[in-house]
Amino acid sequence: MMEKMFKEMYEAGDTPWELHRPDGNLIEMVRDYAISPGAALDIGCGTGNNTIWLARHGFTATGCDVTELAIKQAMTKAAEAQVACTFLRLDFLNEEVPGGVPFAFLFDRGCFHSFDSAEERRRFAEKSASLLRKDGLWLSLVGNRDEIRDTPGPPQCSALDIISAVESFFEIQLLKSNHFDTNHASAHRNWVCLMKKRTR
Ligand SMILES: C[S@@+](CC[C@H](N)C(=O)[O-])C[C@H]1O[C@@H](n2cnc3c(N)ncnc32)[C@H](O)[C@@H]1O
Repeated sequence: MMEKMFKEMYEAGDTPWELHRPDGNLIEMVRDYAISPGAALDIGCGTGNNTIWLARHGFTATGCDVTELAIKQAMTKAAEAQVACTFLRLDFLNEEVPGGVPFAFLFDRGCFHSFDSAEERRRFAEKSASLLRKDGLWLSLVGNRDEIRDTPGPPQCSALDIISAVESFFEIQLLKSNHFDTNHASAHRNWVCLMKKRTR
């Protein structure tokens, strides 16, 4: 059902999250936490803005998305920018990520929070941990339930929603309230959550 919703949104050009550039939260976190370039996966990469930024900054970057049209647009953007990255159309929760190489860094902007149920978010976290090498990191940008709104916006999670989903698989390095990057006048609140794969 969610797959159909995203397909229709991309087909209609109704993609309010689209920045046409990387999210500043990613840039700042990679800089401030000295996240070393390595194999990276952008989960729910959309049209590839963040994947392309990672590739330009030394990461061996792969983007995956369930929506075919998003992946096509991502491939076109990367080709036009002459940036080497890999894009895969797949359902992150229910399909294998091919390659077999463990990732050093996972990133998602607005994919984890798309899942409504605690069970799906926990499976998302478990799958993420399974794809990471020892000490691998996951940076997730998640809609923040503490934002009070009277207009529509991204899905919202509480801090507890995030912690309950990830705690068994990740050590939380940082969980801070911030804002999604935007090209509009006002930005929606988010959680910036940096996690390290648990060793035990
Ligand atoms: C809010 S959009 C964000 C897109 C992109 N990360 C960005 O910041 O521009 C969420 C994306 O997650 C993708 N998505 C949703 N469910 C997914 C799944 N099960 N597997 C892979 N991608 C998924 C959607 O197709 C959509 O492109």
